[in-house]
Amino acid sequence: MTTPNLPDADQPELRGTVNLADLEALGRSRLDRNALEYYASGANDEVTLHANRAAFRALRLRPRMLVDVSNVDTSTTVLGLPLACPVGIAPSAFHGLAHRAAELGTARAAASAGSIMTLSTFSNTPIEDVADAAPGRMWFQLYPCIDRELSADLVRRAEAAGARALVVTVDAPFVGRREPNERHRFALPPHLRVPNVASRDHLARLESESGSQLVNYFQGLIDKAFTWDDLAWLRSVTSLPVVLKGLLTAEDAVLAAEHGCHVWVSNHGGRQLDTAISSIAALPEVVDAVGGRVEVYLDGGVTRGTDVLKAVALGARCIFLGRAALWGLAAGGEAGVRRTLDLLQDELRLALALSGKQNLGQVGRDLVRL
Ligand SMILES: Cc1cc2nc3c(=O)[nH]c(=O)nc-3n(C[C@H](O)[C@H](O)[C@H](O)COP(=O)(O)O)c2cc1C
Repeated sequence: MTTPNLPDADQPELRGTVNLADLEALGRSRLDRNALEYYASGANDEVTLHANRAAFRALRLRPRMLVDVSNVDTSTTVLGLPLACPVGIAPSAFHGLAHRAAELGTARAAASAGSIMTLSTFSNTPIEDVADAAPGRMWFQLYPCIDRELSADLVRRAEAAGARALVVTVDAPFVGRREPNERHRFALPPHLRVPNVASRDHLARLESESGSQLVNYFQGLIDKAFTWDDLAWLRSVTSLPVVLKGLLTAEDAVLAAEHGCHVWVSNHGGRQLDTAISSIAALPEVVDAVGGRVEVYLDGGVTRGTDVLKAVALGARCIFLGRAALWGLAAGGEAGVRRTLDLLQDELRLALALSGKQNLGQVGRDLVRL
C-alpha cells in the first residue's frame, strides 16, 4: 500500500479518528508487510508485548468526588522543560517506513504539541535536521557503539544541535528475536538511509546474509561489553543529562541514581527479553529505589489517557509513546502524530477531572489500587 500524497491537514480519515486504536487501524492499513511486521512485532511469543497493555488495564482507579474540576491542568516539566502534558515520543528506528515526512513529521508534531521527541540512533533523517524541526524539544538516543569515536561523534553532534538529554539504551546488547522479521528477512527499502551511522552500501551488503537486515547490522555495531563503569567515559564526552533507558528493577535503579542518571523504565515495547516484567508493574519498585533523587520515565503499552494517569500516579514524571507515534505517523504524517498527542492529552484531561484532580501534582499512589 502506498502512502497517500494528500496534504496532512486535508485527510478526512484522520479527522474521523476518535482514539489511538482508530489511528492504529488507519496506520496499519497504510503499511506494507515489511514495515508493519517491523513496527508491530515483539520478541519470541510476545508475552511481554501483550503484558505491557494488559497490566495497565488490570490496574483500577480510585477517583475522588465533589472537587472543583472546572479547570484542569495537564502540564508538567521534564528536566526543567515545560511540557503540555506528560507524554513524549520514544525513540524508534526508521520513521521513513511509516511516511515520507519520516522523523521530521514526528518532530514537528511533538514540538507544536509542546511535547518532546526522542530521536533514535537509527533515524532516517540526520540529527541536525530533526533538531531544527523540534527546536529545544529533542532528546537523542544512543546505542553504545563498539567504535567509541562513532558514539562520541553522535553525542557531540546531538549536543551541538541542541539536544537536551542523552538517552542511553541499555537493554539491547543484542537484538531480541522478533521472529516475523527473521522469517521474512526484514530489510530497509532502497530509498531509505540511516545517515547517522551507516552508508547505504553497508546496508546493501548485509542483504545477502540471512535473517533480518537490522539484526545483522546491529551485531557488528553495538558494544556488548558496555557496563556501569563505562558511563564515566560517556560523561567525559558530554555535559548533557544522561537517561538510562531499559531499566526494570530496583537494583539497577539504585545504581542509576548513584551514577547520577535518570531512569527510563522500559522493556523496549516487548521487543527484547520476552517474559520480562511489564513496565507499569516494574515502576513502583524503581520509584521507591530512586527516592526522588532522579527523574523516572516509562514507556510500553500506553494507548489511553488513563494509562498516562496510572503511570504518573505510580511515580513516572512522563511517559513515552513508541508504536502509537508510529501508527499516527503512518496514518497521516505530522498531522497523524499531532492527532495522537492531542487525543491522549484530551483523554488525560478528562481522566484527571473524573478522578477529582485539578493537576498532576495532586496525583499520587492513592489513586491506583495495585
Ligand atoms: C519499531 C520500533 C523501533 C524501535 N527502535 C528503537 C530504537 O531505535 N532505540 C530505542 O532505544 N528503542 C527503540 N524502540 C523501543 C521504543 O523506544 C519503546 O521502548 C517502545 O516502543 C515502547 O513500547 P510501545 O511501543 O508499546 O509504546 C523501538 C520500538 C519500536 C516499536
